[in-house]
Amino acid sequence: MPDQTLYERLGGYDALAATAANLLPRVMNDDRLGRFWENRGDDGIAREGQLLIDFLCASCGGPIMYRGRDMVLTHKGMGIDRDDWKCFIKHLIDTLDDLGVGDQEMNDVLSFIQSFEGDIVD
Ligand code: HEM
Repeated sequence: MPDQTLYERLGGYDALAATAANLLPRVMNDDRLGRFWENRGDDGIAREGQLLIDFLCASCGGPIMYRGRDMVLTHKGMGIDRDDWKCFIKHLIDTLDDLGVGDQEMNDVLSFIQSFEGDIVD
């Protein structure tokens, strides 16, 4: 189906909402990455979860307007390093595996997320 967007191939809004719901607890409970979410309130975390869904949907060609900050502004000054990034990607692969995403879509999601490394890693 070459005419389908990545959003459609992944299964649309519900599939990307499931991706965010699976990924966020993994990274927040990770020994290495957990520090980035320490002492944050429930509503801040819920808001961020929704923004992550919107960002993923919009970036994959879905009919969603992302109204959050760009990736440089959002993560600037957090001190995210290369090892944090590798750890995040490992969790992302586990999430996509868990949700049964196929090889082609897995590669497409990974290459689009990897394209933000320079914006997010300090
Ligand atoms: C090691 C990797 C990452 C870490 C540690 C991290 C951490 C965080 C934290 C702590 C926030 C909350 C910021 C705040 O409330 O001020 C945030 C927001 C966000 N992150 Fe990340 N992030 C990572 C990678 C990514 C990636 C790969 C994406 C998507 C490609 C992403 C998308 C977002 C979005 C959309 C927001 C919300 C933006 C907003 O509040 O306007 N993050 N991230």
